[in-house]
Amino acid sequence: GRLVVLVSGSGTNLQALLDASADPSYGARVVAVGADRDGIEGLVRAERAQVPTFVEKLGDYATRDEWDRAIAARIAAYEPDLVVSAGFMKILGAPTLDAFPVLNTHPALLPSFPGAHGVRDALAYGVKITGCTVMLADEGVDTGPIVAQAAVPVLPGDDEAVLHERIKQVERRLLVETVGRMAREGWTVSGRMVRIGNNTG
Ligand code: GRF
Repeated sequence: GRLVVLVSGSGTNLQALLDASADPSYGARVVAVGADRDGIEGLVRAERAQVPTFVEKLGDYATRDEWDRAIAARIAAYEPDLVVSAGFMKILGAPTLDAFPVLNTHPALLPSFPGAHGVRDALAYGVKITGCTVMLADEGVDTGPIVAQAAVPVLPGDDEAVLHERIKQVERRLLVETVGRMAREGWTVSGRMVRIGNNTG
């Protein structure tokens, strides 16, 4: 499967996918990395792996709709079987969502604690178990069908950074496992088989 990965930050989830796809039997590989901003570690990781990159900034467009169409065109140029939004801090619009399956990862157990501060919100609520969710993206904020989840304990003394780091260790494994299984054998989501094809050429 051909993957286009979208990032806005440190890109450790991207790195996990890059590392996994070094093994051809993984069934998927990262063919391009897109971002909504410059100067982020995620883009450096892509360049280090010699994967092509592109940046489309919302602020460079007069309307959201124009940005939606521009990023969809950049993604489409790489003919992905699957788009992975891995710490990409923008909601994708119909031009991308209608053209490709989009997988998203979130550092909380949805439907609890959606949005940009899932870790902080879970901690503030006082839950003792949180975790991470891999889901198919739709036009809502973390509302798409859930694909896979894993639980992570909240420990006494945790602050947001410590808890997020513990979640990310699990999140990276879950994402790599989910994408690989979608490529190799398919994955049933809400009763529907999602298979991204394991051609890595
Ligand atoms: C992940 O926890 C992702 O779910 C979130 O931000 C983090 C991104 O981390 N929303 P990285 O950029 O992959 O290191």
